[in-house]
Amino acid sequence: MQSKALPKGSATLTVNGKAIDLPIYGGSTGPDVLDIRKLYAQGAVFTYDPGFMSTASCESQITYIDGDAGVLLYRGYPIDQLAEHSSFIEVCYLLLHGELPSPDQLAHFNHAITHHTMLHAQFDRFFEGFRRDAHPMAIMVGAVGALSAFYHDSLDINDPRQREISSHRLIAKMPTIAARAFKYSSGQHFVTPRNELDFSSNFLRMCFAVTAEDYVINPILARAMDVFFILHADHEQNASTSTVRLAGSSGANPFACISSGIACLWGPSHGGANEAALKMLSDIGNVDNIPDFIAKVKDKDSEVRLMGFGHRVYKNYDPRAKVMQKLCHQVLAEVGGTQDPLLKVAIELEKIALNDEYFLARKLYPNIDFYSGITLRAMGFPTSMFTVLFALARTVGWIAQWTEMLEDSSQKIGRPRQIYTGKTERAYMPLSART
Ligand code: CMC
Repeated sequence: MQSKALPKGSATLTVNGKAIDLPIYGGSTGPDVLDIRKLYAQGAVFTYDPGFMSTASCESQITYIDGDAGVLLYRGYPIDQLAEHSSFIEVCYLLLHGELPSPDQLAHFNHAITHHTMLHAQFDRFFEGFRRDAHPMAIMVGAVGALSAFYHDSLDINDPRQREISSHRLIAKMPTIAARAFKYSSGQHFVTPRNELDFSSNFLRMCFAVTAEDYVINPILARAMDVFFILHADHEQNASTSTVRLAGSSGANPFACISSGIACLWGPSHGGANEAALKMLSDIGNVDNIPDFIAKVKDKDSEVRLMGFGHRVYKNYDPRAKVMQKLCHQVLAEVGGTQDPLLKVAIELEKIALNDEYFLARKLYPNIDFYSGITLRAMGFPTSMFTVLFALARTVGWIAQWTEMLEDSSQKIGRPRQIYTGKTERAYMPLSART
């Protein structure tokens, strides 16, 4: 990747009486950055920033977020425009290549993805090693990592063509693996992919067709699935993407790197939040219980959080949540779920939280996960599959970021430092001298 960061002067930091000049760079939009790469060499100090609250870990040209203005752009295109006009496959091409494809490029890319959806027959036996009640995310972490044991011909990360083949394999095989994880946990036979179907219709069929009866594609649900995938395709340097970059910085193979991203995504503060949000709505049960629940959320000692609310970056609204809210109502209308008691709890909870001083003062608004759980449930997915669907969609973002990192000559192996507050050096004490 050719750096496009522009020099914009410098800042002077005085450390222990020594003045150190730190260059400032500007991007194409967003805050400037202070380049501290030589700070330790010149001033013998580290910076301290747990959770990366003020730290840019890389230069990127893929996704831009303005958390205060509620903006999310993929390669410059607003998320709401992509959700309305684009398809997930087109968004995959955009994220990987930087531009929207021509009709020929799209057809070629679609053909490549479609023709990589099958798994090696031996791979199917791999699933049988899991307990039948295994969480599908546990299967995903293992199965995606295991792809590196099946596709030795595309593991050379220094060969651009091998990187491309691995990328296609990952995007194409994730739906097949995800659907198999679902089928395995429900005790049903695996359903093989069909090349005449589009990406999302094929995925829904692999999840919901049974041997006794084929699945009739509902175009509204297939489009809803596609838009869900578009909304989750990338999100800048979030925890799982940073995990993929960090794993990749050591030169690990792409399947291992994406598997590490899946593991990170699983946590309830990240991709697991949609599952947690739906569980929370079920626990609340009905609207009469909301005031008690809100009181618990505000109680500092309870550690109860309003799942699906708040975001590290979006402090006014989550632009994905707006699209997801609309999608949620379309899906519920289609499947006759507008009377879903959980939807009533969600609507009432949203109303109360958006008018409550506690949430307003902390800029806590519904995030995408608040609506996606209800939508996915209405589409027939169990809660355990929600994070799997997120991982399926995010795979393309992880790959685009991983590739960008490998092509960036300024990237090094990720190696954060620390402030050490443990014991200083002391002599070993023999066991006989310890009480
Ligand atoms: N419910 C109640 N209080 C909250 C919540 C919440 N969901 N989120 C933050 N707060 C409070 C928190 O207690 C703190 O209050 P105080 O200042 O009095 O101590 C204040 O708001 C700031 O919280 P924080 O934890 O410092 O904020 P953060 O930016 O580190 O956390 C977050 C962001 C997403 C982890 C957090 O808002 C959260 O746990 N939300 C619920 C989980 C969730 O929905 N996650 C999905 C994120 S969107 C999907 C994705 O992009 O991965």
